[in-house]
Amino acid sequence: MTDSLENASNDPRDIEQFRQYGHQLIDWIADYYNHPENYPVLSQCQPGDIQKQIPTTPPQQPESLEKIFKDTEDIIVPGMTHWNHPGFMAYFSVSGSPTGLLGELMAAAFNVNAMLWKTSPAATELEQVVLDWLRQLFGFPESFFGVIHDSASTSTLCALVAAREAIAALDSRHEGLSGGSPLCVYISDQTHSSVEKAAIIIGVGQKYVRTIPSNNDFRMDMVALEAAIKADFEAGYRPFVVVPTVGSTSTTSADDVEAVAELAEKYNLWLHVDAAYAGPIAMLPEMRHYFVGCERADSLVTNPHKWLFTQIGCSVLYCSKPDVLKRAFSLVPEYLKTQEEDEVVNYMDYGVALGRRFNALKLWFVIRSFGVEGIQGVLRKHLEMAQQLRSWVEGHPDFEMMAPVPFSVVCFRAKPNDWSGSDEDLDILNDQLMHAVNQTGKVFFSHTRLKGQLTLRIAIGHLYMEIDHVKIAWKTITSELQSLLEK
Ligand SMILES: Cc1ncc(COP(=O)(O)O)c(C=O)c1O
Repeated sequence: MTDSLENASNDPRDIEQFRQYGHQLIDWIADYYNHPENYPVLSQCQPGDIQKQIPTTPPQQPESLEKIFKDTEDIIVPGMTHWNHPGFMAYFSVSGSPTGLLGELMAAAFNVNAMLWKTSPAATELEQVVLDWLRQLFGFPESFFGVIHDSASTSTLCALVAAREAIAALDSRHEGLSGGSPLCVYISDQTHSSVEKAAIIIGVGQKYVRTIPSNNDFRMDMVALEAAIKADFEAGYRPFVVVPTVGSTSTTSADDVEAVAELAEKYNLWLHVDAAYAGPIAMLPEMRHYFVGCERADSLVTNPHKWLFTQIGCSVLYCSKPDVLKRAFSLVPEYLKTQEEDEVVNYMDYGVALGRRFNALKLWFVIRSFGVEGIQGVLRKHLEMAQQLRSWVEGHPDFEMMAPVPFSVVCFRAKPNDWSGSDEDLDILNDQLMHAVNQTGKVFFSHTRLKGQLTLRIAIGHLYMEIDHVKIAWKTITSELQSLLEK
């Protein structure tokens, strides 16, 4: 990235300079994609290390791209945790692909604001078409209307606003919430925090977020759910939305969406399904059973940037009541009125943001460049690798599984064969193990807490991950445990 270029000017508007450095940058990215293992997966820097290398005031005079690129390599790269590294097994992957990156680059080149159909018809119409492709691939009904947001948190926030709008007796859009009976949201103890955050933002209040316990398999307890809904109605509250998850964050457990849908219909609740991580798995016919009931959802979120090889900033909200979504969000000032507004979709009417990126383009690049079978092949490989790792954990005397493995995350902990210490000491041992492994730079994984116990969590989902990478991770974990026990 740092070779000096002949004829390169210092003018940031110079298109020839852009061309030359652009080629060089693509070469750099290709090398980086080829050899991410040249870098430690988890950044080894300490808090403040990056800031202290960057001047505290901006440059007054133009600086050359050559110098900017060099500083990027010298200062920024060491401060990166490499989500592109096949040893990245923490959280959920953001599994971007080279073709997704090209789509992203192209979208940045057009740099349109896809707020209205008119402000770039192709951006709107491609979003409609690509989200309808996905809908078909997931087996969802034709009534599902899709919108791309930046994150599942935003998608879920919009879903809850629509759910509130759907309450016939409550005109919250005009009246606000003051004076009405408290609204109640139902989640499980495995639900992602984004739902509770959305409830805070829309004024429900944490006090009225009902956290239903989950069973041994981390699935929402249906008896407890119905009891909580009934108790709230009896107390004069207004239950209004229930959120089952397919692919929960800690263990990837899948709630019984069909059973939740029954209750939602019985008590007139909005059904919002969180499939942010696992949604793409609905593309595998043999895994469709996890999604039974989703077709009855009022809304559902899934993130192609998690497990559909698309660069981050691509979450899809499906809504089977787009009229309600539009009623909740549409507010059109004079300067945004257009002649064709009754004939077209103006995506600004379906969410918080006015300005919107052309995010459908990268998703279109991804789906076309992989093809459905290509995507299915990678997903199946991920599922198989997770089962392989599960079998290694189960077969090792010093480890135990902590949760079932429906998808591609394996939750386990070290519990040495002859262990006679307390649960607290076991937590300390596992915490030390995680830090020791992450310090090697070969693997980075994260933790959760299940039934009070610190649990190690390996997430498979990286586009380039092969079974050898999982072997390296497992070997590193077992040998670091050995070293810790010897100490
Ligand atoms: C199940 C689930 N829902 C929602 C989210 C929030 O996603 P985002 O980061 O896109 O807001 C996550 C994040 O990991 C998740 O695992």
